[in-house]
Amino acid sequence: MHNRVNISDKIYWVGCNDRRTHLFENYWPIPKGVAYNSYVIVDEKIAIIDTVEKGAMDEYLDNIEAVLDGRQADYLIVNHMEPDHSGSIRSLTERYPNMQIVGNKKTFPMLKGFYGISENLLEVKEGDSIDLGEHKLNFAMVPMLHWPETMVTFESTKGILFSGDAFGAFGTLDGGIFDDELDLDYLEEEISRYYSNIVGKYGSPTQQALKKLGGLDIKMICATHGPIWRTHVADIIAKYDKWSKYETDEGVVIVFSSMYGNTEKMADNIARQLVKRGIKKIRIHDASKTHPSYIINDIFRFRGVILGSCAYNGGLFPAMETLVHELQNMAVKNHVLGIFGSKAWGGGGVRTLSKFAEAIKWEVVAEPAEALCAPANKDYNQCEVIAESMANRLKELYT
Ligand code: FEO
Repeated sequence: MHNRVNISDKIYWVGCNDRRTHLFENYWPIPKGVAYNSYVIVDEKIAIIDTVEKGAMDEYLDNIEAVLDGRQADYLIVNHMEPDHSGSIRSLTERYPNMQIVGNKKTFPMLKGFYGISENLLEVKEGDSIDLGEHKLNFAMVPMLHWPETMVTFESTKGILFSGDAFGAFGTLDGGIFDDELDLDYLEEEISRYYSNIVGKYGSPTQQALKKLGGLDIKMICATHGPIWRTHVADIIAKYDKWSKYETDEGVVIVFSSMYGNTEKMADNIARQLVKRGIKKIRIHDASKTHPSYIINDIFRFRGVILGSCAYNGGLFPAMETLVHELQNMAVKNHVLGIFGSKAWGGGGVRTLSKFAEAIKWEVVAEPAEALCAPANKDYNQCEVIAESMANRLKELYT
């Protein structure tokens, strides 16, 4: 049986699950896999909405063929050009040579650049629409959500938003396709990790998109990854609103880099002092062990961040360097920060973290704690000062 599910009378999900790829975008871990969602509207005219990653192409083309039942596709709507969705375009154009590719003016240079395709193009602008017969597709531009060419397609007769990556999630669709058929608790971290890892840099464009889409009567959201939202539409929109405003909960993420355990001891000490001051939601990560994907996700969730690093070749330990580079690149906003570490001889860990604090413009709650080698009493005392200042600041912010 082919993978196709009716999402309304004449609209089908024809997506594919990927349980083989370890790293999404060759960087972000996906232990629960990922789904590439594509949709087909079978009307007087037939429209396919987005495609799938090329590794899933054979299965995908069979799914499409089964739905089309001998007919030709008239339109391919390209909401987003990242190759996890555009990877099967060339094969579709070979199979359906008269099909018009619908995109905007930023779509087509990428289409040519990635796949050498420059014919049968239909350019749409903000507010344009295409009639398929019963169904009507309306287009809205949502630039930098999360690429420059990203747009969404709203099917206005059924109230279905084809949202591209927005409202997407990591995790395969294990039998359930709709949000109310799936174990959303199992997918919770995959939903937030998808936002923080992939969309997280683009909080302001996400806010603009939410305002633009706010006037639509959305009954269903069909993203290119993850569940189809039909029961929890308002919930996922509220989550995106919160995340893209960088709103966080009371809690502290402590991340350390430690070669021989001395900096780690300071992390444990700070955590204990935080607990004694009433902070319960604490996550400690070893930057060498935990991929930045999960650490960044926790940082999107909690207001307090405390970073500690030993010195390494006069600078930060490499795993911590990767993390702070990523945070700076994503321009993550709205956190309060504490810093600690160990020096050995010339230092460099704490010094570089202090420069990071200035660059990212997070509020630093106290002077750093910097041990020479193993932490001495004075260093633990300063750890306590950091914990106390952090706890007090969080209480001010959350009461
Ligand atoms: Fe799922 Fe931005 O591609």
